[in-house]
Amino acid sequence: MKLNINEIKHVMVIGAGTMGHSIAQVYAQSGFEVDLVDLKQEALDIAINKIEFNLNLLAEYQRISSDEIPSIVNRINPSTDLETAAKKAEYVVEAVSENRDIKRGVYSQLDEFCSRKTVFASNTSELNIFKLVAINNPERLVIQHWFRPAHIIPLVEIVAGRKTSPEVIDLSYNMLKKLGKTPIILKKFTNAFIVNKIQQAINSAVFGLLLKGIATPEEIDLAVKTSFSLRLPVVGVVQNLDFVGLDVISDVLKNMGLELSIIKDKVDQGQYGVKTSKGLFDYSGRSEEEILRKKDEKYLKILEFLEELDIFEPV
Ligand SMILES: NC(=O)c1ccc[n+]([C@@H]2O[C@H](COP(=O)([O-])OP(=O)(O)OC[C@H]3O[C@@H](n4cnc5c(N)ncnc54)[C@H](O)[C@@H]3O)[C@@H](O)[C@H]2O)c1
Repeated sequence: MKLNINEIKHVMVIGAGTMGHSIAQVYAQSGFEVDLVDLKQEALDIAINKIEFNLNLLAEYQRISSDEIPSIVNRINPSTDLETAAKKAEYVVEAVSENRDIKRGVYSQLDEFCSRKTVFASNTSELNIFKLVAINNPERLVIQHWFRPAHIIPLVEIVAGRKTSPEVIDLSYNMLKKLGKTPIILKKFTNAFIVNKIQQAINSAVFGLLLKGIATPEEIDLAVKTSFSLRLPVVGVVQNLDFVGLDVISDVLKNMGLELSIIKDKVDQGQYGVKTSKGLFDYSGRSEEEILRKKDEKYLKILEFLEELDIFEPV
């Protein structure tokens, strides 16, 4: 299946709820003609109101020019007529409710009305859409997982099924780049993908702390905001291990009765992280002092910014 991004003019976003309205907006911002389809006219009316609100806020923060707003809104055609929209769509983003029967029903309609070349990108958060739905030409089905609010958060995870074609993955990647997003292609399917998997681990720790009465909700969030909130934007969650020291991580794991080959192999090779200029990341021979300075300068700038925003109080 040959796919050229320049041939894609019509995008259909199906499901105009929390995610769909804002995904449709992002496509329209990049010049695509978008049919935004939902079952109910009321959902579409709310969606268009939200899009106008979002665009005005983006203009207020100089992310777009306010002159562009009418043409962006004009490129979005709200509709309850799935069949008509499906017939002209070259690319479909599915953002209907996370319900197996609803998803199955929608894909059966898409399969019936769309051209066999039309790509289907599902925004499912955790369903294995590749096993759930039956369509002709399954090589055109891919997951394109956005984050709320889709018009602000840069990341979109791309997840392929066993049958998804490399052309569909490339097209989705190039499309998201064109939209100004940061796409990441997962190497294989895994439940909840990257971010939600990490979020699930955090949630499980939070529930444990709350259930055992270790700390109040306010204290847990204050703890996170006065630590993670500086650290995460600078060293993420993987590079942070290099700053702790992989030799230390290895000892901690041993104390827990664990051994992980990805850590042990590095330690065996004398790669402890920042202190040896090599760990899970490669610091190209830079000194520990140089790396620490670069990190700490960013921490200090973020701290100043967070204090200015008064971020340590609950929203
Ligand atoms: N809410 C989030 O933060 C989030 C984040 C990432 C991904 N997702 C995923 O995005 C998808 C949509 O989630 P949401 O939060 O926008 O849900 P939502 O309930 O806000 O919106 C779903 C919309 O789909 C419409 N719909 C249902 N059946 C339909 C049909 N047959 N035809 C057309 N429209 C139909 C509903 O009327 C509703 O407007 C889900 O798969 C969800 O898991 C959600």
